[in-house]
Amino acid sequence: MSQYYIGLMSGTSLDSVDAVLVRFEPEFELLAWHEHALPEPQRQSILQLTQPGDNEIEHLGLLDRQLGELFADAVNTLLERSGTDPADIIAIGSHGQTIRHRPEKGFSLQIGDPASIAEHTGITTLADFRRRDLAAGGQGAPLVPPFHEHLFRSHKQDRVLVNLGGMANITLLPANPQQDVSGYDTGPGNVLMDTWIQRQQGKAFDRHGDWARSGQVIEELLDSMLSDAYFHQPPPKSTGRETFNSEWLERAITRLAEAPRAEDVQATLLELTARSLADAIKTHSLAQPELYLCGGGSHNQGLHQRLQQLLPDSQISTTEALGLHPDWMEATAFAWFAMRTLNRKTASRASVTGARGDRILGAIHLP
Ligand SMILES: Nc1ncnc2c1ncn2[C@@H]1O[C@H](COP(=O)(O)OP(=O)(O)O)[C@@H](O)[C@H]1O
Ligand SMILES: [Mg+2]
Repeated sequence: MSQYYIGLMSGTSLDSVDAVLVRFEPEFELLAWHEHALPEPQRQSILQLTQPGDNEIEHLGLLDRQLGELFADAVNTLLERSGTDPADIIAIGSHGQTIRHRPEKGFSLQIGDPASIAEHTGITTLADFRRRDLAAGGQGAPLVPPFHEHLFRSHKQDRVLVNLGGMANITLLPANPQQDVSGYDTGPGNVLMDTWIQRQQGKAFDRHGDWARSGQVIEELLDSMLSDAYFHQPPPKSTGRETFNSEWLERAITRLAEAPRAEDVQATLLELTARSLADAIKTHSLAQPELYLCGGGSHNQGLHQRLQQLLPDSQISTTEALGLHPDWMEATAFAWFAMRTLNRKTASRASVTGARGDRILGAIHLP
């Protein structure tokens, strides 16, 4: 009997919907993967809903159904291309698209109707993984650390996993088994760099960080951005486009004495991601931890290099070195969450999210 799961992830970058086919028993294997395009109208609708606006309920209701059908398409394409029989899949774990993350007010909303996914795939679908942790007083984020622990904790070497999505989050995996796993969002990952290059050059992102590397860091701008309260708040903490968005960037630029060169702003935004990550990692007493990068920003060589300079004692590679390609980490994590929940096992970690305890996560939609 096959033990296949599908994981679906659509992150804050709005670059695509990631779908993976995996199994965890007898040992972990990534069997197939697919990047499903996110159509421009839906991308725009998501962006609109991340900020307060008019007639939100109507827009939300529509987009929820549209994304649910899109997620089902992503799954069906993955199954077709890999020649997999849907009957062989135990369940789908779908993160959903975050449209508002307000842990300080006790909620975080992910949409992409799981009933539509179950309906159009005929597969048991789990979703809404963050709610229970929020109900238990947690941030609802980040959720991935226990998954990282499951696959990647070493008893010889301290490790840090760094996920470079729209936001950046770290998972601290101490070698000492007496110490708890921890993790939190350190601040922006790629989101501000993406926003700036889109606005200035119409490109989706700064490939390899080349444009950033052509500029000079503006220290005054960097200091002013690093003075944001988020960077100084102790964990547990998590963030999103509600805080780090184009208005935030605009405000910081307006505070400058003179108008900056566009490439220097990009250089400063890359430095902001690198510095906020390195500063956060240094506050933890880990012994020359190995760093493993995942998420789309792991392809940003400029960022990789800069992190290495800021953390010279750490060996930095991508999670490919651990056997999981950096592009598929998050989708794989949601396949794992689906498995945990179906097995009645907890998947959140109170030491990470600050909740009252570890919880079984998500809602189950039967086929
Ligand atoms: N070759 C590359 N060079 C620089 N940045 C990249 C590259 N490939 C992907 N990215 C960045 O990764 C982002 C997507 O990362 P992803 O992990 O999917 O984030 P999210 O989970 O927020 O969707 C893109 O928006 C882009 O900023
Ligand atoms: Mg993405």
